Amino acid sequence: MANVVRLGIAGLGTVAQGVLNILQHNHAIILARSGVDLRVTRVASRAAKRDVDLLGATFSTQLDTLYNSDDVDIVVELIGGETTARDLIEASLAANKPVVTANKAVVANFGNQLLASNQHVALKFEAAVAGAIPILQAIQQGLVANRFEHVVGIINGTCNYILTAMQQSGTAFDVALSAAQELGYAEADPTFDVEGIDAAHKLAILLALAYDTQFNFDDIYIEGISKISPADIIYAQELGYCIKHVGIARRSAGSDDDNDGVIEARVHPVLLPEHQLLANVNDVANAILIKSDAAGHTLFSGPGAGGAATASAVLSDVVNVAQDLLRGGEGPTTQNRAPVTIVPIAQVRSPHYLRIPTQDQPGVFAAVAQALSNHEISIEAAIQKQPSSVDEIVDIVILTGIATDAAIQAALGEVQQLPQMAGEIARIRVETLE
Ligand SMILES: NC(=O)c1ccc[n+]([C@@H]2O[C@H](COP(=O)([O-])OP(=O)(O)OC[C@H]3O[C@@H](n4cnc5c(N)ncnc54)[C@H](OP(=O)(O)O)[C@@H]3O)[C@@H](O)[C@H]2O)c1
Repeated sequence: MANVVRLGIAGLGTVAQGVLNILQHNHAIILARSGVDLRVTRVASRAAKRDVDLLGATFSTQLDTLYNSDDVDIVVELIGGETTARDLIEASLAANKPVVTANKAVVANFGNQLLASNQHVALKFEAAVAGAIPILQAIQQGLVANRFEHVVGIINGTCNYILTAMQQSGTAFDVALSAAQELGYAEADPTFDVEGIDAAHKLAILLALAYDTQFNFDDIYIEGISKISPADIIYAQELGYCIKHVGIARRSAGSDDDNDGVIEARVHPVLLPEHQLLANVNDVANAILIKSDAAGHTLFSGPGAGGAATASAVLSDVVNVAQDLLRGGEGPTTQNRAPVTIVPIAQVRSPHYLRIPTQDQPGVFAAVAQALSNHEISIEAAIQKQPSSVDEIVDIVILTGIATDAAIQAALGEVQQLPQMAGEIARIRVETLE
């Protein structure tokens, strides 16, 4: 019994059932590998579920039974949402119970306060980022000796599924979204996923751990994928690129070797060269590409969601915390989380893809080129498509040289005023990730 660690699980949904299921089948493997004998003593959720085996645990509808009971050593928060989940985590930590959670929204929004006020009780959240992929452990342990140049991830499976479907079958965004919803890959209200908020929650966590900073969700620039058109996917392919939705945390070009204090943090669609490793991560898969000074490029990929996959990451945290408890230590939680300066998006520099719909008239390309040139933006490649016989509209497609977002914005403001303009301009940043 000396190595028994007792769990109190909050929630009885997809991930909680995944945890119970893994413990039912892999308890002996976990014990043999880690020396920890995990027992679920309590489950608390809104309602009991007859068909779920609680492994002998006591069920309650009262969440406070988890942190008020002597027979719970670790609280596992799997109810989701923000307010009740945050209150549960806060109360558990205050009651000296370590917490493992999969809740990215709570960690991204309230992580600073939760960690600061409970520095000696562990709060772990591996499952909050990229499902099964042990990316937080990789950053904090496997790559601990490295300074990170960039951490770039496909961290929202819904967006990746939709973009992959648009690329492989030429469907429009709405059609691909409906297919994702039918398959259970997108929520009935998909806003959090397709508008990039979920990815930004995860990026806030990656950023905090990779750059030893506070959680900075509010300063992350966020753009979703709902404006990506099939035309953009096709033109990107013609130029040798693939469109992906990514979260990017990167040391700013201006940062010196000893200073990680100025960071780019942004979530938006990008054009990636089609040979790039991340460009070939498809469907609902997640992947994170890290460039660091000693290890170089490392890529982590795998399922970013799903009950079993997420539960795998939850249990990895549980075992780590349990081992610390058995050793009699509390385990490190926060060290020196300094504030960080996030570079305003206007100052971020990158090449851009532009699709400019215009009337098919002489001189229009020259006028567009002049507007770009007025803001010192060079043209690296251009395609002028044939007009469609229906409306005589041509798409001018341009890959620019490196320019700030502010310069692109100003140039496009001028282009949009041209009398030949025939629609809204599409612009997508280009990343080579070298
Ligand atoms: N599902 C995934 O693939 C995945 C991946 C990564 C991270 N996560 C994170 O994991 C967490 C759990 O996700 P999930 O998919 O398992 O959610 P879920 O299937 O909706 O399960 C949530 C469970 O919590 C219960 N619950 C909700 N609010 C409650 C409250 N106020 N009091 C008591 N019980 C409450 C629900 O009760 P009812 O059964 O009565 O509804 C349900 O049993 C979330 O933070 C989510 O973001 C999930």
